[in-house]
Amino acid sequence: GARKKITVLPGDGIGPEVVSGAIKVLKAVAQKYGHQFEFVKASIGGAAIDQYDTPLPQKTIEACKSSDAVLLGAVGGPKWDGNPSHLRPERGLLAIRKELGLFANLRPVTAFESLIASSPLKKEVVQNVDLMIVRELTGGLYFGKPSERRGEDQSYVVDTLQYSRKEIEQIVEKAFELASVRRKKLTSVDKANVLESSKMWREIVEEKAAFYPDVEVEHILVDAAAMKLIQNPKQFDVVVTENMFGDILSDEASMLTGSLGMLPSASLRNDSFGLYEPIHGSAPDIAGQNKANPLAMILSAAMMLKYSFSMEKEAETIERAVNDVLNAGYRTGDIQSEGSTVVGTDKMIELVVNQLEDDAIVG
Ligand code: NAD
Ligand code: IPM
Ligand code: MN
Repeated sequence: GARKKITVLPGDGIGPEVVSGAIKVLKAVAQKYGHQFEFVKASIGGAAIDQYDTPLPQKTIEACKSSDAVLLGAVGGPKWDGNPSHLRPERGLLAIRKELGLFANLRPVTAFESLIASSPLKKEVVQNVDLMIVRELTGGLYFGKPSERRGEDQSYVVDTLQYSRKEIEQIVEKAFELASVRRKKLTSVDKANVLESSKMWREIVEEKAAFYPDVEVEHILVDAAAMKLIQNPKQFDVVVTENMFGDILSDEASMLTGSLGMLPSASLRNDSFGLYEPIHGSAPDIAGQNKANPLAMILSAAMMLKYSFSMEKEAETIERAVNDVLNAGYRTGDIQSEGSTVVGTDKMIELVVNQLEDDAIVG
């Protein structure tokens, strides 16, 4: 078996609730496959602000840098919403992504057959959906400078959308690589009819396309992409886009699976290191009530096994366990449908762990 050190950043709200599920599931995987996973907890977000007066303490950065991968729950909450920008939990999240150079955020959207009825969309639309949003994560509007208020009465604001050629090239290359091992279709989403950054983005996609002749490339404007994602999501394989467009489109796409609580993500660079987090936030409205769906977090742990540790079969064991529990009719509140058995966070975690332990396929 392998030895891996995993830094765990539970964060705020439902973060710690879902993270505990991922740890339990990973411990069961380690047990089953003879691996040793060491979990080291560190502080981020509102929890870090309360304890250390900063959303990202230096020792958290160091813990992440000295580990093989990072698991993150979620950050933020009403308690810190009034804070000045540099003391907001979300700042910690942006800073850790930047510090670690995690420019590629993979957000797979896979329709679970047993959850078709949980989506607000028609069965024919969502059945067999299997797409991957590749969101640029360390540039664009989120990191533009200046980003500030101006004027004597501070009545003027500026945010900046900036990208270097190199930043666009690396995310576009990553997306082509992913498309070439999937269904070989790449959709680049931009706003090239308006934005200069998008024009350069489009040029770079065209340049890179020459190196991937077997990948079919299309360009769609972001507004139309938002529409097509609902109209006919099966037309998409890999979708590559800038930071903020990807943020928005992935929450929209989560509805194809039935809930924001189902979508995992991997934040990567060009080596095996990665940070893994659900795409959802800290859900203050249900925090502390044992209602959160832990599956996005658990599926993020599966992505960690696959992308950082090259543990394909271990990752599949988690995915199979999740699928089996859903097939047996168990649901958290966010994905409940007629005839399903509604369970809390703890119970859902326990069901997945038990299912995984009972799984006869060790590969
Ligand atoms: P949110 O994703 O936290 O919640 C949106 C809605 O989805 C809520 O009704 C919530 O209850 C529900 N939901 C989210 N995850 C769920 C889960 N696992 N199970 C069941 N229901 C779930 O977004 P928001 O309400 O806009 O933001 C709340 C806070 O989270 C804000 O402070 C925001 O900045 C932060 N946030 C953090 C992250 C992150 O840490 N990556 C992502 C998004 C938002
Ligand atoms: C996400 C979140 C974050 C983002 C926020 C909390 C900064 O919405 O991970 O999708 O926009 O990247
Ligand atoms: Mn988001």
